[in-house]
Amino acid sequence: MVKIIFIEKDGKRRQVNGESGDSLIQVAWDNEIDIEGACEGAMACSTCHVVVDENWFKELDEASEEEEDMLDLVYGLSATSRLGCQIIISEDLDGLTLYLPDETHNKLLD
Ligand code: FES
Repeated sequence: MVKIIFIEKDGKRRQVNGESGDSLIQVAWDNEIDIEGACEGAMACSTCHVVVDENWFKELDEASEEEEDMLDLVYGLSATSRLGCQIIISEDLDGLTLYLPDETHNKLLD
């Protein structure tokens, strides 16, 4: 079990457990965390945007070029923004902390 901490829009802290190998949006969905993930990981919607805690950001694998391209289109982009569907949980990420952005925009509906 890998501990993941989501900070919701209202500042509420939700600590949940994920399995190594799961994507972050899967962990969110399993625990009723409010991340849409409309394209289910196809990197086409950007509704899985999360802002990673600064201390954890460098622990993640680097974003692919496709992910960077999609991130360029998200509302409220921050220096530690990532797509939740592209973060794969591992034991090394125990305690990973993420903030849910105020707003997301579904690029599939443009
Ligand atoms: S779920 Fe659509 S880009 Fe991540």
